[in-house]
Amino acid sequence: MNPLKHVAIIMDGNGRWGLKNKNSRNAGHKEGLKTVEKIIKETIKNKIKFLTLYAFSTENWKRPKKEINFLFNLLENFLKEKIEDLNNKKIKLKIIGKKNFSSRLTSLLNSSERITSKNKRLQINLALNYGAKTELINAFKELKRNKEIINEKNLKKYLQTKDIPDPDLLIRTGNTKRLSNFLLWQIAYSEIFFEKKLWPDFNERDYYKVIKKYKNIKRNFGNI
Ligand code: FPP
Repeated sequence: MNPLKHVAIIMDGNGRWGLKNKNSRNAGHKEGLKTVEKIIKETIKNKIKFLTLYAFSTENWKRPKKEINFLFNLLENFLKEKIEDLNNKKIKLKIIGKKNFSSRLTSLLNSSERITSKNKRLQINLALNYGAKTELINAFKELKRNKEIINEKNLKKYLQTKDIPDPDLLIRTGNTKRLSNFLLWQIAYSEIFFEKKLWPDFNERDYYKVIKKYKNIKRNFGNI
C-alpha cells in the first residue's frame, strides 16, 4: 500500500453548483466551504499530514469584483470563526501565494499562521493568490541572486513548499481535466484524479474512495 503524506486539491465547480442550485455563483462558494470542512475532518481521520487547497489563483483576479469580495469575506469569516477550533485540533495553517490583500485580511492571515505555527497533526497549505509559474520564476530569481548552481535541490529551497514532501495525490473536482497553474513543479510524480462531481457535491466518502484507489496504485517513479 502506498504511503500518503500529502494531498493537494483543486476545488473546482463552486460557480456551476451555485448557478444550478441557487441561481448564484457565490452560493456555490458558500456551499464549497462546507466541503472544505468535511475534507479536513477526513484528512485527519486518515492520518494524512499535509493538505494543500487551491482557494484563489493569480488568474482568479479576472473575476467580477463582487465575486472576489465575496470569496475573501468568506475566508475572513471562516478564519475568525474557526481558527481557535483548528488550533485545538492541532492543525497548522500556512498560506502559499503572495499575500497582497487588504491590510485587515493580511494581518488576519498572519495571525492565523502564527497562532497555529507549532501544530503537528495536519498542515493545511491554503493557496491564495497563488500561481506556480510565479513561484518558479521567483525561485529562479533567488538562485540567480545568490549565485547558486541550478539544480533540483537548490531550486526546491526557494519554493513555497520547501519544507514539505511533494503531493502524492492531486484531486481536481468539477469534471475538468487541467492543472490551472497549480504546483506545477511539485506534482511531477503525483497520482492525479479528476473527479466528475462539483466541489460542493464532493464528500468524505468520495474522498475516501480516491484515497483507497491511490493506495493500491503501483507507483514506479520511472522505474519498472
Ligand atoms: C473554483 O470553483 C473555486 C474557487 C475559485 C474558490 C474556492 C473556494 C472555496 C472552496 C470556498 C472558500 C474556501 C475557503 C478556504 C474560504 P469555480 O468558481 O471556478 O467553479 P466553476 O468552474 O463552476 O465556475
